Amino acid sequence: MDGKIILVANTPKERVLSGIQPTHESFHLGNYLGAIKQWVDLQNTNDAFYCVVDLHALTVETKPEDFKRRNLASVAQLIALGLDPEKCTLFIQSHVPAHNQLGWVLECMTGFGEASRMTQFKDKSQKAGSDRTVVGLFTYPILQAADILLYQANKVPVGEDQRQHIELTRDLGQRFNSRFGETFTIPEGYILKAGAKINDLQDPTSKMSKSSSSGAGVIELMDAPEINTKKIKSAVTDTGRDVTFDEKEKPGISNLLTIYSALTGKDISQSQADFEGKGYGDFKGAVAEVVVEYLRPVREKANELLKDEAHLNSLLKIGAEKAEAVASQTLKNVYDRMGLIPRG
Ligand code: TYM
Repeated sequence: MDGKIILVANTPKERVLSGIQPTHESFHLGNYLGAIKQWVDLQNTNDAFYCVVDLHALTVETKPEDFKRRNLASVAQLIALGLDPEKCTLFIQSHVPAHNQLGWVLECMTGFGEASRMTQFKDKSQKAGSDRTVVGLFTYPILQAADILLYQANKVPVGEDQRQHIELTRDLGQRFNSRFGETFTIPEGYILKAGAKINDLQDPTSKMSKSSSSGAGVIELMDAPEINTKKIKSAVTDTGRDVTFDEKEKPGISNLLTIYSALTGKDISQSQADFEGKGYGDFKGAVAEVVVEYLRPVREKANELLKDEAHLNSLLKIGAEKAEAVASQTLKNVYDRMGLIPRG
């Protein structure tokens, strides 16, 4: 030894977890700007776990052959959008049974009234009526809490609409810790201001969502450029002529400015400045071009990846093994602390 002291940076990485439902052939721009874009950034500096939540998606009735395809299409899109399976753990929720197992434990600790207050459940069940609402939709946020708590996540990158589910997760984690001793990390939502709520292009006061709109105001990442250009050019605008950000008076223009700003990396005032003295027509044309050019390589890469299902499956196998190692340890602690007898 020559007496030199070597300092090793030893700050543990923070744990990140998030999930997305494979309910459609394509994710939409709200999914990307509200969540996936942050997932991509966070994988570089955190120990990130991302899952395609196929079990949550069972709350929507889907044909098996469509469901299978949508799961793989989801994985392909996530990789095409920038998730790197070498940097993050990318997996399918049902490949790790501990999600359901912890889900049941947490269901036994959630009040009926507490679950009944979840606004997403209330909205969806009111629309469908109680006979057409499945019980899985009621327990959906509890399974989501299990997804998060299993991985001892510190941060959960999601859009604004998930704030209440993260709050429930925190409550359940704290409840368990205070009854049975420190077991779970209590997570924080990671909800960025810009992009946390992208609105429908035809109804710019409601969030962009495939389940609640005709589709004309939803930009699907996998759609052909002509389709998305047309949708953006037909976006509802507001009275007046200036391209200025004012969510109350000009929700349509503000939504398009948010999209433009998020995809170009310019802030809102720089984005506004790009259109000074120009009309809505020029503005919408420019937004369409930015969106289409941004998505072009994503669509190409996703389609390319989908040609090799065996490769995608092998990536998912590695992801499931990495996820399982963490999840099974948490579940074991949970069972032990609650007094369940381990299998001999
Ligand atoms: P999902 O598939 O409905 O949405 C996936 C992500 O997209 C965000 N999002 C939006 N963000 C901005 N503007 C929009 N218009 C918009 N629409 C959707 C959502 O907030 C979400 O982040 N319940 C979750 C899935 C889930 C999950 C988890 C998330 C299951 N387990 C554990 C985090 C951690 C959901 O909303 O999926």
